[in-house]
Amino acid sequence: MAKRSYLVTGGAGFIGSHMVDALLERGHQVKVYDNLSSGKKEFLSHCMDRIEFMEKDLVSDPDLIESLEGVDHVYHIAANPDVRVGADDTWVSVEQNIIATYNLLEAMRKVRTGPPPSISFTSTSTVYGNATVLPTPENYGPLMPISQYGASKLAAEALISAFSDNFGIKASVFRFANVVGSRSTHGILFDFYHKLKADPTQLEILGDGMQRKSYIHVSDCVKGVIHATEGQESRFEYYNVGTRDYTVIKEIPDVVVEALGLENVKYNYTGGHKGAGWKGDVKFMSLNVEKIINTGWMYNLNSRQTLERAVREIISDLSV
Ligand SMILES: NC(=O)c1ccc[n+]([C@@H]2O[C@H](COP(=O)([O-])OP(=O)(O)OC[C@H]3O[C@@H](n4cnc5c(N)ncnc54)[C@H](O)[C@@H]3O)[C@@H](O)[C@H]2O)c1
Repeated sequence: MAKRSYLVTGGAGFIGSHMVDALLERGHQVKVYDNLSSGKKEFLSHCMDRIEFMEKDLVSDPDLIESLEGVDHVYHIAANPDVRVGADDTWVSVEQNIIATYNLLEAMRKVRTGPPPSISFTSTSTVYGNATVLPTPENYGPLMPISQYGASKLAAEALISAFSDNFGIKASVFRFANVVGSRSTHGILFDFYHKLKADPTQLEILGDGMQRKSYIHVSDCVKGVIHATEGQESRFEYYNVGTRDYTVIKEIPDVVVEALGLENVKYNYTGGHKGAGWKGDVKFMSLNVEKIINTGWMYNLNSRQTLERAVREIISDLSV
C-alpha cells in the first residue's frame, strides 16, 4: 500500500501504541495525539524519533483542525475505557467518549486542505448490552448498553454514522471483545497480577466466576483493524473484532497463578452484581466475527492462547 499519513488518537495507550508500531512497520507516516491521561510516553520511546507526538486533549484543544491538516486517515482510539467508573461518575464517558469524538469529527469536516480524512473507531462489544443472541452479530438489535461506557461508545458510533453520511467521511467502527497483551494498564490479567503481587496467598475474583467472555490478543486485534480498514470500499462499515470462542472467568485465575509460579492460592469470589463482576458488566459476551474473517483476516491465538500469552507479556512488562 502507498505511504499514507495517519493520526492516531490515544496512540500512547495500550492498543494505540501497538497501532502506531503496526503503521510504522508498514512504512506510513504517523502523528500521535494523546493527553497522556492513561497513555505513557514510554510506550512510544522506541519510535519517538519516527513519529510526531502531540500531547493534546480532544476535549479542550482549540487547534484540533491544524493537527488534522495533511492527514489521510484517523485511527480514533482515545477514550476513557474504564467500564466500572460509570456507576459512580456518569459524566466521564460523556465527556471523554462522546464530546471528544464530536470535537474530532467536527474538526475533520472542517479541514482546510483537501477532503476530510477517513476514520476508524475503536468501539466495544458493550454496545450490545446483555444480548440475547450469542455469538452476537453486528446487525443485532435493539442495542441496549448496560454501562455508561457502552452507552457513550454507542453514541459516538451514531455521531460517526451521521457525520459520514452528511459530510462524505469514509468510516469504520470496530467493536472489540476484551483486548489483552503487553503494555496493558487495566483489565482482568492486570488486576489479578497486582492483587497476587500484593498477597500471593489469596485472590479476589469479581463476580461468581461463571461469566463467559471472549479475549483477543492486541497484535491480532490491531492487524484485523488495519486489514479491514485498508480493504474497505463502502462509505461506512461495522465489524466485530474478537475470536470465535470464549473463556469462562473461573479458568483465568489458574492461568495467572501458574505463570507466577504460585501454589495453594485461595480464590474468593465476590458474587458481584447478579453474578457479573460489577454494575454494568456484561456477564456473557461472545461476538460473531465472521464478517471481519470474511475480509481475509484471521486471528493467530484463540481466547485461551491469548490469555496465556498475554499474562507472560504483562509479567515481563511489569517485572522490568
Ligand atoms: N482494552 C480493551 O479490552 C478494549 C475493549 C473494547 C474497546 N476498547 C477501546 O479501545 C480503545 C483503547 O483502549 P485501551 O485499552 O488501549 O485504553 P488506554 O487507556 O490504554 O488508551 C486510551 C488512550 O487515550 C488517551 N486519551 C484519553 N482521553 C483522551 C483525550 N481526551 N484526548 C487525548 N487523548 C486521550 C489516553 O491517554 C490513552 O493513551 C478505547 O477507545 C477503548 O474504549 C478497548
